[in-house]
Amino acid sequence: MNPVVLITGAGKGIGRSLALEFAKRQHRAFSPKLFLVSRTLSDLESLKKACDEMSLETDICVADIAETTSVDKIYTDAIKRFGAIDCLVNNAGVGRFKDLLDLTEDDYHYTMNINLKGTFFLTQRIFKDMQARRSGHIFFITSVAAETPFEQSGLYCMSKFGQKGLVEVLRLYGRKCNVRITNVMPGAVYTPMWGEQNEVTQAKMMRPEDVATAMVDAFLQPTRTSVEELVLRPVAGDL
Ligand SMILES: NC(=O)c1ccc[n+]([C@@H]2O[C@H](COP(=O)([O-])OP(=O)(O)OC[C@H]3O[C@@H](n4cnc5c(N)ncnc54)[C@H](OP(=O)(O)O)[C@@H]3O)[C@@H](O)[C@H]2O)c1
Repeated sequence: MNPVVLITGAGKGIGRSLALEFAKRQHRAFSPKLFLVSRTLSDLESLKKACDEMSLETDICVADIAETTSVDKIYTDAIKRFGAIDCLVNNAGVGRFKDLLDLTEDDYHYTMNINLKGTFFLTQRIFKDMQARRSGHIFFITSVAAETPFEQSGLYCMSKFGQKGLVEVLRLYGRKCNVRITNVMPGAVYTPMWGEQNEVTQAKMMRPEDVATAMVDAFLQPTRTSVEELVLRPVAGDL
């Protein structure tokens, strides 16, 4: 099996760990090819180097999923490079965490353009091919914030609840054409998204590789089986 896996937001955090987990799991019968997307070239270059050292075929694409032209470029470049996309990981996502009354119009557009608009149009573009080929797997890294409110996460929760809506509608389509849709809902994972945290807080959080391992396990299930939801929380619950 040589699936082509496109990961958005691959440069840091969970996306980066996922790319490295795919690389670690390769063996004679499983040799994934990765198409890695984010906005920062240096992150992608260092990740590609690490994947190259593990003999994994990878390509990188600097793009902002919030821009419609970038969505076209991601799709076109990935198809040109690898022919087809077997697995899409909608991981790129952002949050601006502050009191509900302090959130601005800029915060609104920034969050929604990435978490909702970019995710929607890239998914739409790639799902169309999967539907025609009657195979594929799409992961969404939403969050526990897709169904649990957090006070400092007004726009983030709004966008993640919205992503969950997309997941559930898309799954109705996926079930009719053999495309697996997995909603990954992690609680707190210590990544650059959280900035600096003291040791006590860090100790209460999961690590990106915990999420990545569960996702590759879900991907490697027989294609007759769809892991529809993965909920991962720190053992002591939400922060
Ligand atoms: N960490 C957590 O506790 C946690 C919990 C639940 C869910 N999640 C979700 O998991 C996903 C990954 O989170 P993370 O913690 O790994 O975040 P992170 O450490 O901030 O990494 C996010 C990655 O996405 C890229 N990215 C952001 N906006 C992008 C855009 N417009 N276009 C392309 N790439 C973009 C970032 O790189 P550039 O800035 O260079 O583009 C970075 O590589 C997010 O959707 C997040 O909401 C995280």
